[in-house]
This record gives sequence, structure tokens and C-alpha cells, in this order.
Amino acid sequence: MIQHKSVGLRNSPTQRRVPCVRKPHKCVVSRAATKTGIGASGFGLDEPVELVDGRVTSGPDLSVEVNGMKLPNPFIIGSGPPGTNYQVMKKAFDEGWGGVICKTLSLDSSKVVNVTPRYAKLRDYSNRVFGWQNFELISDRSFDTMLAEMKKLRQEYPNRILIASIMEEYNKNAWEEIIGRCEEINVDAFEINFSCPHGLPERRMGMAMGQDPEILSEVCDWINAAATKPVWAKMTPNVTDIAYPAAVALAAGCEGVAAINTISCIMGVNLDTLRPEPSVEGYTTPGGYSWKAVKPIALAKCTAIAKTIQRDFAGEGKSLSGIGGVETGADAAEFILLGSDTVQVCTGVMIHGYPLVKNLCGGLQRFMAKHGFQSVAEFKGRSLPYVTVHSELVTRQREAIRSKKERVGLTNDSEWSGDDFVKNAESMVANR
Ligand SMILES: Cc1cc2nc3c(=O)[nH]c(=O)nc-3n(C[C@H](O)[C@H](O)[C@H](O)COP(=O)(O)O)c2cc1C
Repeated sequence: MIQHKSVGLRNSPTQRRVPCVRKPHKCVVSRAATKTGIGASGFGLDEPVELVDGRVTSGPDLSVEVNGMKLPNPFIIGSGPPGTNYQVMKKAFDEGWGGVICKTLSLDSSKVVNVTPRYAKLRDYSNRVFGWQNFELISDRSFDTMLAEMKKLRQEYPNRILIASIMEEYNKNAWEEIIGRCEEINVDAFEINFSCPHGLPERRMGMAMGQDPEILSEVCDWINAAATKPVWAKMTPNVTDIAYPAAVALAAGCEGVAAINTISCIMGVNLDTLRPEPSVEGYTTPGGYSWKAVKPIALAKCTAIAKTIQRDFAGEGKSLSGIGGVETGADAAEFILLGSDTVQVCTGVMIHGYPLVKNLCGGLQRFMAKHGFQSVAEFKGRSLPYVTVHSELVTRQREAIRSKKERVGLTNDSEWSGDDFVKNAESMVANR
């Protein structure tokens, strides 16, 4: 008999409460990921470690348990090109990724028509890529084909975590059908794409649902009534307060939240042709921004969600999967310190390839060894209490000055000088 999940009320989030056989794969490290130093993006990579079925063979334990799923390490392939067919998802498991989320699926892929070029890079003056735009749609592959490929993967990797990213229109039957068919092949969980910023909102899908708390709540109700597996709602950063829709999804029974999807953007304007880019037959459309440049934004959004989970859903086992610009173990450590249970990587795989997971694990272990952490759970959320409101910073600083600690920077705005302006600004930077 199918066990349906219990789902809470649909009140506003502020009012709530609602309420194998393992195949061994030795890892081979690619040239792009063999040493610490400059990676394909031009930025530094961590020293790689050996992984067997995604597990580190020595040093601090990287395994995590989230919503009943056991992952050998917290690094999950984020939905996108790195999870688009059998051979790339297989590659991800073989290289050691802790879990794989497939490219977002819908029942009728015939409506999905992509254009090319659909990506654009933003580079710094050293030609290093720090921003990435895409206006790629969800999977254009037939649902039956993708499902057959995922079934094969499921059989070949019974102990690895396979998550179905799905999206549908505002239609209860369609959601029930897509969930039922994915459960037949025994996916471990669902990630619901409420966040794709281009193409699909025109059909009231993706971000259009994630930005409308009423529809979001209703659709999450349908989904959680149909699903027996954990459900993560993937949220858009293209809202005023991401914690609000995240809380709506959690209150409607979702076990977790994933954030962030890409940030609405236009990469630039070609000053020779005067056409915005990326240009398709001379025209463009706003796309989604990802990679290193978005990490600070993603950290702030994840912090807001983590605080909401801590405050409004304490003890309910709700989870957070942090996403946005992760390239190193240190990047991942920051997401975990601010409350993420797992960390997803999409653009990083497109830039460095699948072996990147070994570098990520190496970097995370090095961070853990430095602080004497034996497990990921030991430091999850450690930095969260130190994010507060501005007025508390004022109070704390006043107290510190009173107790004769040295002041940093200017005392007030009247001290800015025209001649020393840059020096004045520099005097107040934390990470000079
Ligand atoms: C080319 C591309 C395609 C993407 N396609 C999807 C998708 O189908 N479904 C989805 O939920 N997110 C999709 N994303 C968003 C990523 O999963 C991720 O949320 C975002 O890019 C931020 O993480 P990153 O900086 O590690 O890429 C896509 C991102 C890129 C760059």
C-alpha cells in the first residue's frame, strides 16, 4: 500500500504550523582536476582525494543523511546539462558525486524548443570566468526516454541517490501523473523546479509558480499528496523575500528547499552591433545568471531560508540544499556553515568536468581537518547565529568602543574626505 505523507495546513507561513548491491568504481582524476592550482576557470582548485562509490577513503567523514537519504558526500549534481542523459549521470556516479539531480523533466517535451547560442560568459580582466548566463529550457528529451534511462541507472547504482527534477503546468492531474511515473522507477526524491526564470514562466510554469505564494501552496499540496518520497522545492532568487515562498512550500509538506536557481540577467550589449547578448538572430531574452558571481547572493538567500527553518520549523527535519557558484570545498563549507545540508553544483561541472567532485571533497576535508571537525553535521549552521540585524551590530560596536576596543574606519559620514576618499573606503573593508 502506498504511504502518503502527512501534510500540514495551508496558512500563511507566519501563522503556521502546518503542518543493494554496490558496484565499486575506482576514481580516475582528469587532467583538469589533478592538482591544486589554476583550474579551467582560471581560479584555484583544491587538491583532489580518492573516492570509492563517492566515499572518501581516509580523513574526516563527509557522509550526510538528509530526509532519510544517505549520501556518501554532500555534493550533488544540480539540475541542468550535467544531468541530462544516461551517460552523463552515470559519469557523475562513477566520479563520486554524492547524488544526481536530473535535468528538469516534464510530461510533454514537444513544447520545449531550445535555441543556440544560449550561454554567455562574463570574464574579469585576467580572462577568468566568474559569471555565466543561460536561457536554456528544461529537458527537450522525451519523458519516456529519460525515465527509461533513469530506470537503468537506478538498477546499476541501487545505493546512490537519484533525484528527479520535475516541472508541470497548473494542472493537478499532470503533477500526479509525473510523480507517479517517477516513483515507479524508484527515484529517491523529487526536486520541484519552481524557479526557471526564462521561457517557462510564459506558460505559467517554473518561476511563475515560485513567485506566486497562493499557486505555490496549492501546487505543493497536490505534489505532497501524491508523493511518497521526499520533496524539495527549488526556489527562485527573483523575489523580494525568498524565505516567504520557501516557508509556503515547507508549510505545504515539502521536506526541503533548494536554493538558488539562476538570477534574471542580460549579459551585455555588443557595442559594435548594438545588439544585446547572447544574440539569436539579432535578438535576446533575459536569462539566468550563475557561477562564482552569484555566490554571495546565494549565501544571503540560503541564510534567510535557514533562519526560517530554524525559527518556524524547528525539529521537523526540514532540509536545505545550497546552490550557487560552488567551485571549491571552501565555497561548500560556507553554505554548510550557514545551514545547508547538501550543496549542489551545476555550472562548475560545465567548466571543470565531473572529476571536480574529488577536488571539492579534498577541499572540504582540509577545512574540516583545520577545525578538527569529524563530520559535516558537526559544523552545519555554526555561522548562522552570527548573521543578525543591523541594529544589533550598532549595539555591539557601541559596547566594544565603550570597553575601549579600537575603532575601525570613520566615526561618521562627516569624516569622508575628497582627497583621501579611496583610503577612507579601504579603511572600512573587512577582507582587505
Ligand atoms: C545551462 C544551465 C541549465 C540549467 N537548467 C536547469 C534546469 O533544467 N532545472 C533547474 O532546476 N535548474 C537549472 N539550472 C540552474 C542550476 O541548477 C543552478 O540552480 C544555478 O545554475 C546556480 O548554481 P551554479 O552556480 O552551481 O550553476 C541550470 C543552470 C545552467 C547554467
